[in-house]
Amino acid sequence: MQILKNVEELISYRRSLPSNSNVGLVPTMGALHKGHQSLIQQSVANNSHTILSIFVNPTQFGPTEDFDKYPRTLQKDCEIAKSCGVSAVFAPEVAEMYPNNDEITLHPPKNMGYIFEGFIRDGHFDGVLQIVLKLFHLTQPHFAYFGQKDAQQLLIIKRLVKDTFLPLKIIPCPTIRDVDGLALSSRNIYLSATQRQHALEIPQSLQYIKELINNGTEDAKTLIKSAKQILKNVTLDYLAITDYNLQEISAIQPNNSLVLIAAKVGNTRLIDNLWL
Ligand code: PAJ
Repeated sequence: MQILKNVEELISYRRSLPSNSNVGLVPTMGALHKGHQSLIQQSVANNSHTILSIFVNPTQFGPTEDFDKYPRTLQKDCEIAKSCGVSAVFAPEVAEMYPNNDEITLHPPKNMGYIFEGFIRDGHFDGVLQIVLKLFHLTQPHFAYFGQKDAQQLLIIKRLVKDTFLPLKIIPCPTIRDVDGLALSSRNIYLSATQRQHALEIPQSLQYIKELINNGTEDAKTLIKSAKQILKNVTLDYLAITDYNLQEISAIQPNNSLVLIAAKVGNTRLIDNLWL
């Protein structure tokens, strides 16, 4: 497995791959857990070469967010990557990805990018689009793997590919959870034992919504109201039911509904969702 530290090395690595190779890209910010690993495993299973990027991207963090505090565990990440069969890890420094202070930026579609995460985290998706487009250009993947855990991010990146005619396919990957139901996240390490117990109200509320739907409830307001009864020890940012274009809907539409939740537990902000 190669470890590439700069853009030049990545470009020459990509050029060295045979023209008949299939390249999968897994973009991450590191601190790899089993959620990331499932993306990597899917890419390794379906491509001749998997490039894993590890880069804590400053442009997607707000001024009061945890950029400095974000866990950085490169050596351990590389061991995991190697054991999963990754061909190359791209782990650049910030100056390598952002050589200019004042750069061209991208904005998400107005009706998708400024609600939910985009409303609370000003400029977040601009930063995600900026880095993901750079990674797509540098690695020229055939397939790029993204988690359904970050539903809004996944849907906006799909639009980036569609709107700018990028020659690659986005592969959505299911959310991986811990045994207690909490969706795996690099931010879970910030939670104390008590906070973790409180955080479990998030997946529990989604599970409850699933049960109510299975028992015939379709009305979005009823579902949200019922789920809110479970959310006693977290500070809710939003709980919403939308279609796959992120537009709120009044009733569940099979194969076109998303339940989105974001809540704070202490200072830690967690997101989760349900694809229906
Ligand atoms: P990061 O949070 O490191 O996540 C990298 C990828 O792993 C994303 O596609 C995310 O949706 C996926 N992922 C995270 N937790 C998961 C889980 N529990 N189950 C399945 N997949 C999971 O998302 C980012 O980084 C960044 O915004 C990035 C796209 C790399 C751009 O900087």
